Amino acid sequence: MAAVTVPTLELPSGPRIPVLGLGTYPLTDAEAERVVAEALAVGYRLVDTAENYRNEAGVGRGLRASGVERGEVFVTTKFNAKWHGEELVARAFERSAERLGLDYVDLLLVHWPNPAQDRYVSAWRGLIALREQGLVRAIGVSNFKPAHLQRLLDETGVAPDVNQVQLNPLVSRAELRAFDARHGIVTQAWSPIGKGGELLEAPVITEVAGRLGRTPAQVVLRWHVQLGNVAIPKTGDPARLRENLDVFGFELTEADMRAIATLDQGEAAAVDSDAFGH
Ligand SMILES: NC(=O)c1ccc[n+]([C@@H]2O[C@H](COP(=O)([O-])OP(=O)(O)OC[C@H]3O[C@@H](n4cnc5c(N)ncnc54)[C@H](OP(=O)(O)O)[C@@H]3O)[C@@H](O)[C@H]2O)c1
Repeated sequence: MAAVTVPTLELPSGPRIPVLGLGTYPLTDAEAERVVAEALAVGYRLVDTAENYRNEAGVGRGLRASGVERGEVFVTTKFNAKWHGEELVARAFERSAERLGLDYVDLLLVHWPNPAQDRYVSAWRGLIALREQGLVRAIGVSNFKPAHLQRLLDETGVAPDVNQVQLNPLVSRAELRAFDARHGIVTQAWSPIGKGGELLEAPVITEVAGRLGRTPAQVVLRWHVQLGNVAIPKTGDPARLRENLDVFGFELTEADMRAIATLDQGEAAAVDSDAFGH
């Protein structure tokens, strides 16, 4: 398979984000270095990491080892609850940038809202300032529910470029996706293939996969692409890196999309970001 060119979506801040990228949790620094370089060689141009994954240094080494130009790669990272504060966010950025060995990141996210701490709005103001300084090209949040997003809108008037949430056919988050879409926010899916678990064995998925001569993971990733999500499947396996990227040469029918939608277990199946966070 030749290197794949991944389609992109334009973010409200201007940069374009590839619709499919590489998740890196729970790769170690050493694993991330290898996998990121391999991923870029086969066509990945979006890499997702976080302070919390403790692999930003490895991701940065992988980016440099790949030989791909910095400007061609979209790098996302995220910061933890202890940095929720307007000035603190600048320090979180500096530390991540230093570990990554980069002077800017493409997208910086509030990793979890941590509403009990009630400081995500000031974290958001810190991100707005970083974007104004040109240190981050786009800004966003992760695990934000509509109520959290509404507070950002009400108190700052600035919508995130991206909301990265747990999303796959078992947890398809229709309301959340609709809220994001109404506000121009791109929805990014974590655990896009359900962590490789029962989802990939669901008869609805394996039936479509068999009929199209594709793998279950490819069917699920294609479902994301057709919904307009950005998906970031993680794998440490070279063959799966290619498999997961090879989803731009086939289409699911509307009937396939409807059949896959029946797998949704509702919002209760998602990790509750009012209760969990770090
Ligand atoms: N914002 C957040 O709070 C948050 C939370 C969780 C995750 N994330 C991000 O989202 C990324 C992806 O989520 P995730 O890692 O939870 O789940 P995922 O990408 O849905 O699934 C990853 C699992 O599926 C396996 N896998 C990968 N490709 C496969 C294939 N083609 N066929 C069968 N199995 C396959 C992987 O194993 P192998 O590695 O052995 O292939 C791994 O165990 C993370 O890496 C991280 O970057 C963000």
